[in-house]
Amino acid sequence: MKVLVTGGCGYIGSHTIVDLINNGFDVVSVDSNIRSTTQLLDGVEKITGKKIRNYKVDLCNLEDTHAVFHENRDIVGVIHFAALKTVPESVADPLFYFHNNLASLVNILKCVKEFNIPNLVFSSSCSVYGNATELPVVETSPLLEAQSPYARTKQMGEQMIRDYSKVNDTQSILLRYFNPVGAHPSGLIGELPIGRPDNLVPFITQTAIGKLPKLTVFGHDYDTRDGSCIRDYIHVMDIANAHTKALQYLLAKKNKDNCEVFNLGTGNGVTVLEAIKAFEKISGVKLNYELGPRRPGDVIAIYANNTKAKEELGWVASTGIEDMMRTAWQWEVALRDRVLSN
Ligand SMILES: NC(=O)c1ccc[n+]([C@@H]2O[C@H](COP(=O)([O-])OP(=O)(O)OC[C@H]3O[C@@H](n4cnc5c(N)ncnc54)[C@H](O)[C@@H]3O)[C@@H](O)[C@H]2O)c1
Repeated sequence: MKVLVTGGCGYIGSHTIVDLINNGFDVVSVDSNIRSTTQLLDGVEKITGKKIRNYKVDLCNLEDTHAVFHENRDIVGVIHFAALKTVPESVADPLFYFHNNLASLVNILKCVKEFNIPNLVFSSSCSVYGNATELPVVETSPLLEAQSPYARTKQMGEQMIRDYSKVNDTQSILLRYFNPVGAHPSGLIGELPIGRPDNLVPFITQTAIGKLPKLTVFGHDYDTRDGSCIRDYIHVMDIANAHTKALQYLLAKKNKDNCEVFNLGTGNGVTVLEAIKAFEKISGVKLNYELGPRRPGDVIAIYANNTKAKEELGWVASTGIEDMMRTAWQWEVALRDRVLSN
């Protein structure tokens, strides 16, 4: 069974391809490489022994997107990762985000409709909950004001798929990721931000290895146990496996609705300072960090109730924070060693 993965050259897409292949699926990828290279796909090939075809196509271009679907009429589903994801960048340039993340989704939906693709899985985010007033958030928690244009593209993306699903045959799942971190245990793939990272964990590992001089913790006066933001960090391979399980669930027609939503988090809130401590413990490296001002677009605290994904999808988040940090660090060290040996 063949699956079309958009954004397959990116962080979560590449790890998901590994899990899909390990579970017997064939995969083709579409990625414009606006935020990636094909390096992670090379790693995927080393891990799985399978060559992955990537179409270098901007999904905002309908004609090119259509051509990919035309060539792959036999796919059983689309997993749509491709999007821009940097919160501060979206605050600075909202139109860039609205265009890239939403025009691409409209084109995906047009092609899914035209080619009668039965299943769609969409990368959503816990950012759809805004500054949630009750924690942990459940799938039925209200979606409050989006804190950034990026988050708004996820709220709008979800709504577009929900409206589409009401009048079309496609079965959809919206997966709300909390904070994916870590890397495949092989050290062959991991998070590979182009330029300066925006997410905490690559910032930590790049600082520890000396690529970046210092980490700034954005905000230390929030109403949390140590003043820093609280997030629900989740290992990327656990996130990856949820996509395989979501697709299998749809293929087995176990879904209760045309469009279902699942939280993907561990259920544990970890502060930024606790994450730093966990990193220092597993790596033995003292991190150079400072406490800085709050950053626009950040929510204060968020963590998941993941009961629905456990019960319906049979999914478990099996990796703890220290192993998340350990695999992220192994990946950063492997990247450095590869550069040194070239
Ligand atoms: N990483 C996180 O912390 C996180 C959290 C919640 C949700 N998400 C969502 O998960 C998805 C994957 O995130 P990721 O961390 O793997 O990001 P990533 O940047 O590593 O991967 C996204 C990929 O999509 C590609 N892309 C972007 N726009 C495209 C377009 N118009 N056409 C074709 N390709 C395009 C990029 O080149 C990149 O390779 C995104 O939708 C993101 O918003 C990520």
